[in-house]
Amino acid sequence: MKKKVLAYNRVEKPVLEELKDKYDVQFFKNVDTRNDTEFLNFLHDAEGIIGLELPVDRELLQRAPNLKIISNVSVGYNNLDLDALKEMNVMATNTPGVLTDTVADTAFGILIAAARRIPELDNYVKNGNWTSEAIGPELFGTNVHHKTLGIIGMGRIGNAIAQRAHFGFDMEILYHSRSSKPDAEEQFGAKYCDLDDLLKESDFVCMITPLTKQTEGMIGKKEFQHMKKSAIFVNSSRGKTVVEADLIDALEQGEIAAAALDVFEQEPINSDNPLLKMTNVVTTPHVGSSTVETELKMSELAADNLEAGLSGKKPANLVDERVWEDK
Ligand code: GLV
Repeated sequence: MKKKVLAYNRVEKPVLEELKDKYDVQFFKNVDTRNDTEFLNFLHDAEGIIGLELPVDRELLQRAPNLKIISNVSVGYNNLDLDALKEMNVMATNTPGVLTDTVADTAFGILIAAARRIPELDNYVKNGNWTSEAIGPELFGTNVHHKTLGIIGMGRIGNAIAQRAHFGFDMEILYHSRSSKPDAEEQFGAKYCDLDDLLKESDFVCMITPLTKQTEGMIGKKEFQHMKKSAIFVNSSRGKTVVEADLIDALEQGEIAAAALDVFEQEPINSDNPLLKMTNVVTTPHVGSSTVETELKMSELAADNLEAGLSGKKPANLVDERVWEDK
C-alpha cells in the first residue's frame, strides 16, 4: 500500500503529479485544520506532509500519529512548533538557498517602488492625470543609489540584498544580526551596528529576519521613533516581526516617510486595513519567492526532503537536527 502524503496549500503541479505516482496524495487548501473531517481523517493516516504555512502545533500532531516528516515549501518555518515536533519525533524541513536571489529581488523591487513612487505614478498615468508635459515636485521620488541601507537579519537573503545594494546602487550597508558576518563586511563593506544605531542612520530599513520568539514585534513604536523622518521601511520577513498598529501610527504621524510591505500581521490582509489607503505604502501579497522558476525549485526541494524522510534517509534541510540525532 502506498504511503499517505498530505499536500497543503502549495506544491507546484509537476511535482504534485510525481508525488502522486509514488504516494497516496491528497491536496487540501486553506481548510479549517481543527474541524474539517476529511482533512482530519487523512491526517490521521498521513506519514508525510508537504506544503505551505500549515500551522503544526501539538494538537495537530496528536491527530497525526503516523507522521514522520513535515516538509515546508518555504524557507520560513514559523508555522511549526519545534518543541512539539521534537517531543513527538517528527522531522521538519524547509527550502533554503533556492529562493535567496528571488526574495532579494522582490525586497529590492518594492524598496525602489516605494522610493520612486512607482505604483502611485503608474496610477497617475493610467488614471489620465498626466496632462501637462512635466510633472511637478509633488510627485518626485527619492534616490536609492548612494544612500544608506540598514538590513535587519543578515542571513542568506540579507546578504543577497546587500550584494545588490553595494554593487548595483553604491549604497552604504549597515546590518544588525545575531552574529557578525565577516564575509559581508569584506565583500560589501557592510558594518555591524546595534539596532538603535542602524535605525538612526539608515535611509532604508529592511527587515529580513526569520520570525521567532525573539524577533516577534521587534520593530514597534520606539523603533519607528528612532528612524529618520525620511526613512523608508521595507518588510520582506514576516508581518509579525513588526507591530503593525505602530507602523500605521508612524506613517500617519510622519515619523517615517513610506513603507514597502510584502508581509502583514494578518494574511490575507483585511480590506479595511489603513495601510491600504496610504499612497506612500507599497504592498504585495507575500510574493517574495513567487516566480515560476523559484516556486518550482522550492516544490522540488521540498519533495526531495519529504522522500528522504519517508525512506529513512536524512533530509538535506532539517530545521531541527535534534530530531534526527534522537532517531
Ligand atoms: C517565504 O516567505 C518563505 O518563507 O519561503
